[in-house]
Amino acid sequence: MAKERIGILTGGGDCAGLNPAIKWAVKTATDKRLESERGVQYEVLGIRNGWSGLMFEAGADIEKDGYITVLDEQKVRTWDRYGGTMLGTSRTNPYNPGYDLSKLVMKNIKKLEIEALIAIGGDDTLGVACKLAQEGINVVGIPKTIDRDLVETDYTLGFETAVSVITEEVDRLRTTAGSHRRIFVVETMGRHSGWLALEGGESCGAYIILIPECDFSMERVNELLLEGREAGSRYEIIIVAEGAKPIGYQEFVRREGVDGFGHKMLGGIGDYLASEIYKGTEVETRSVVLSHLQRGGAPCAYDRRMGRYFGIAAVDLIVTGDFGKMVCYRNGEVTACPMDRVVGRTSYVDLEKHYDMERYSGRRSIFR
Ligand code: F6P
Repeated sequence: MAKERIGILTGGGDCAGLNPAIKWAVKTATDKRLESERGVQYEVLGIRNGWSGLMFEAGADIEKDGYITVLDEQKVRTWDRYGGTMLGTSRTNPYNPGYDLSKLVMKNIKKLEIEALIAIGGDDTLGVACKLAQEGINVVGIPKTIDRDLVETDYTLGFETAVSVITEEVDRLRTTAGSHRRIFVVETMGRHSGWLALEGGESCGAYIILIPECDFSMERVNELLLEGREAGSRYEIIIVAEGAKPIGYQEFVRREGVDGFGHKMLGGIGDYLASEIYKGTEVETRSVVLSHLQRGGAPCAYDRRMGRYFGIAAVDLIVTGDFGKMVCYRNGEVTACPMDRVVGRTSYVDLEKHYDMERYSGRRSIFR
């Protein structure tokens, strides 16, 4: 029987749901029952630390340098229960203009005899995958990002777990906020899109939700808060996405500089808001940054299930030779679309449809 190798890697920020996708890609590829039907015996190579796992001089002993690990059913058996990625990840960009190592990546794919590659990631990782596909490498993509900001798919791995973290943490804050009659500002991730802040805020019942798509007026925020107090509320929770900003401002950055894909390190809007709210309302206000807690922990049931479906679907694409595609979830169905339709685009919150721009909150009507 013909033998073929599949490579699999996770790139960009980690999140819950990656391990279930890896596990199910491995289980599906190496499924003995499917082997005779396919006429191919697959071996799966796990590539460590994102694209950097292909940026070394591969030798004959593929596991020697620790960049590659052979994955089988036994090895991945329990992986779907765990958060993060057992393969490790990085924000390394082989096409970085400062040191373009894309040729080395392609050389290694050939040397390692990888017939098909599964790249699990967000826009950056899939952007690299797409370029490799254009160079003739057989690649398929699986969408993941807690920001859920990829187009062409209604779901990206990690999102629901992150929404659950926001909900649980805000539940914890409520008791202390209420006891002290304080306002709490909770900063979430979400660079350009407000999906995580919006749906996290809706799930936890935040009073105000501020998102990158809608620059806000500080005066209006304070007015809403004072209205709440006058109506008898003891405390308020505000969810703010890291990329949200007041009208006339730039995004707040945590640190100068950019990562391998040119992204600024955002952060600080929560503290800014807390201090402006205190100035404007004289109500004691604290801020909490949820940061990487949103990416951590075991995947919720939904991410385990979606990871499973996406992993299986990626292998199906390989079996049918449908390369250059990303697995997606549209209107309740797992499907696939060309990766070049996804890369470089962003899914934004539709303010008219999903947001209340007067109350800075989730929508209050569904059918109108
Ligand atoms: O992957 C996207 C994201 O979750 C963004 O919302 C956030 O800005 C970024 O990751 C932070 O990543 P890190 O600090 O781990 O590089």
